[in-house]
Amino acid sequence: MSKKTQWIRDELDSLRQQGLFTNIRTIESPQGAWLTIDGRRVLNFCANNYLGLANHPALRSAAKDAIDQYGVGPGAVRTIAGTMSLHIQLEERLAAFKGVEAAISFQSGFSANLATVPALVGKGDIIFSDELNHASIIDGCRLSRAEIVRYAHCDPDDLRRVIGETKVEGRAMIISDGVFSMDGDVAPLPEIYEIAKEFDYLLMVDDAHGEGVLGRGGRGIVDHFGLHGKVDIEVGTLSKAFGVVGGLVAGKKEIIDWLRQRGRPFLFSSAMTVPDVAACLAAVDLLESSTELVERLWSNGDYFKKEMGAMGFNTGRTQTPIVPIMLGEAPLAQQFSRRLFEEGVFAMAIGYPTVPQGKARIRVMNTAAHTREDIDTGLATFRKVGKELGVIS
Ligand SMILES: Cc1ncc(COP(=O)(O)O)c(C=O)c1O
Repeated sequence: MSKKTQWIRDELDSLRQQGLFTNIRTIESPQGAWLTIDGRRVLNFCANNYLGLANHPALRSAAKDAIDQYGVGPGAVRTIAGTMSLHIQLEERLAAFKGVEAAISFQSGFSANLATVPALVGKGDIIFSDELNHASIIDGCRLSRAEIVRYAHCDPDDLRRVIGETKVEGRAMIISDGVFSMDGDVAPLPEIYEIAKEFDYLLMVDDAHGEGVLGRGGRGIVDHFGLHGKVDIEVGTLSKAFGVVGGLVAGKKEIIDWLRQRGRPFLFSSAMTVPDVAACLAAVDLLESSTELVERLWSNGDYFKKEMGAMGFNTGRTQTPIVPIMLGEAPLAQQFSRRLFEEGVFAMAIGYPTVPQGKARIRVMNTAAHTREDIDTGLATFRKVGKELGVIS
């Protein structure tokens, strides 16, 4: 065995010994309320497929039709020969859906963050960042080479405090997740906006888990709080509620124009594929035509949360259909998740470093694809395993 990669084997062994090695399950069916894994049918509480669109007939047929008309691949990066009429249509439709001047699409939400932050701030500038912001925001901030000043999670007073203690000589930007995916809580955007306005700093929100979930018909966190025209940059993803894959940035035309010139993943990585873009267009059609899926998502999430609380589980501080079941230590969370799986329920344990030490949990992602009967099946299994492991009495 090669000596130069010995350190990798050591690190992998160490992860296994600490119980931190991620075993990745393989899904053998389409996404939906139920999945086939290892040949077994299991209830799916893990996917970000909030509205059940990942296998929706309208998206599937839009993708197939587009392939017949335009082929599969974009052939190039957007700025050379990869901008197809479908990309422009999607961007115009997303801008109209979100009520902003303009929008730009990316290959993923992750690359949207990597494009946006370094295009707007750089060396000598300051980023004020919620301490629990998503990894892709953190990486975008690091790439920008601006100084990163963290403030306490969802705490506008602390944001004010760190701003007071920081000398800003260049540009400054405040960045927060909209919905925090590990806890399901929502950023206090109106208060953060007031601070951004007072200091005249750029304000960016990453609405990956609010897109298709919060606001009228899933128009996102800005719509939820009625902050139209006040948040400079809304980053989003097409990979969760939209059911496909891709990223977006929505906002003022001048900012979007700038990202078309300076967003590095836009300039140096190929465009979204034809079937993805077409399926996203079909998702926008569905969201614009009815609020039914968004309502079902919330009704399922609220029901699950209420029933889990009534059984005695601690569901943390969630305000959305993401429901964490707080268990404390990682081995308990892992054992709980394993037992759920044996009983036919797929719900992931999440531990350090994704969440702080001692705050391990099972995270349940409710969706509009679940029926009330599915949720009841899940609840009964949680009750059984919770009692067996002494989490509830
Ligand atoms: C807050 C946040 N931003 C960005 C992303 C990345 O989105 P995508 O999966 O489209 O790259 C995620 C996905 O986990 C996320 O939770």
